[in-house]
Amino acid sequence: MSDIPAIRVSGAVKCFGALRALDGVDLDIRQGEFFGLLGPNGAGKTTLISALAGLSRLTEGHIAVMGHDVVRDYRQARSVLGVVPQELVFDPFFSVRELLRIQAGYFGIRGNDDWIDELLANLDLTNKAETNMRQLSGGMKRRVLVAQALVHKPDVIVLDEPTAGVDVELRQTLWRFIRKLNENGHTIVLTTHYLEEAEELCHRIAMLKAGQIVALDTTQNILARVGGQTLKLHIGSAALPAVLVAKALSFDAGVAQFNFADPLQVEETLRVMREAGVRVEEMEILKPDLEQAFIQMMRQEAA
Ligand SMILES: Nc1ncnc2c1ncn2[C@@H]1O[C@H](COP(=O)(O)OP(=O)(O)O)[C@@H](O)[C@H]1O
Ligand SMILES: [Mg+2]
Repeated sequence: MSDIPAIRVSGAVKCFGALRALDGVDLDIRQGEFFGLLGPNGAGKTTLISALAGLSRLTEGHIAVMGHDVVRDYRQARSVLGVVPQELVFDPFFSVRELLRIQAGYFGIRGNDDWIDELLANLDLTNKAETNMRQLSGGMKRRVLVAQALVHKPDVIVLDEPTAGVDVELRQTLWRFIRKLNENGHTIVLTTHYLEEAEELCHRIAMLKAGQIVALDTTQNILARVGGQTLKLHIGSAALPAVLVAKALSFDAGVAQFNFADPLQVEETLRVMREAGVRVEEMEILKPDLEQAFIQMMRQEAA
C-alpha cells in the first residue's frame, strides 16, 4: 500500500486547440510528501490539477491518485482526493455548515459533524458556521473552500494557489492546519506564486514551464544549485545602466537582483551605478532563495 505513489502522472498532454498546456508531464509524488508545484502564470499548473481532479480530460496520458485512475476509477480516485480550487466557486444559498454536510453527503458520508466542527475550528470558521455563503468575505469563502475539500478526510490534498490575495492571518491559519495534516500522514500538493511559502513548507518541488517540468528536486538541492550570494539594489525610478541589464537576474519595480559567486563583484556593480549617476536607495545582500532559483531556471530554459 505505502509504495503506491500518492499521485502518478504519466505522459500527460493537454491541448487547447494548438496550445499544448501540458506537454508531456511525468511525475510521481510519494505518500506523505509536502510537494510544491511551481511555475509562472500559464505554466499549466491549474490544467494539471483539473485533470487530476477529473474535471477535465487529458488529451494523452494518465493520472492515478493512490493507484486509482482518475478517469477509469473516477469515484475511488475522487474519494481519496481533496482539491482546493484556484477559483472561488460556491453555492450562495447555503450556510457554511449546510454546504459542508452536502459535500460530505456527496461522498456518502453522514453524521460526521465532529470532523466538520474540527475543520471549522482549525480554519477559524466556528462563528461563521450558520452564515450564508453569500455574506462571507473573499477570505472567509476561501476558508470554506478548504474545509469543503477536506470534509471526507482525503489522503491526498491539493491546493491551487490557496493564498493568492489573502491576508497574512489566513495564510498563517491555513499553513498551521495543513502542516498538521501533513504530520498526520496526508500528502499535500501545493501550487503558489509565493515562493517563500513553498521554500518554507515543501520537501520537494517541481518547476513547470510551458507545460513541461524543467526542474524536479528537493527544495534543499534546488537552493544549493543557485549558490553564491544575492545582491538586491533598490534604485527607485532610475534606469538600470545598460552594462548591468544583461548581468541582472531580474529588474522589477525599481529593484535589481544579481547573483554573484564572488562577493567582490558587488564592488564592481556599485562602481557602475555610481559612474552612471544612479542613486542606490537601499542595498541587501542575501542568501539565494527559491525566487532566485526560479528566475535562474526560467532564464536557462529560455536561452
Ligand atoms: N479552458 C481553456 N481553454 C483554452 N486555453 C486554456 C484553458 N485553460 C487554460 N488554458 C491555457 O493553458 C495554459 C495553462 O493555463 P493554466 O493551467 O491555468 O496555468 P497556471 O495555472 O500555471 O497559471 C495557459 O496558456 C492558459 O491560457
Ligand atoms: Mg493556475
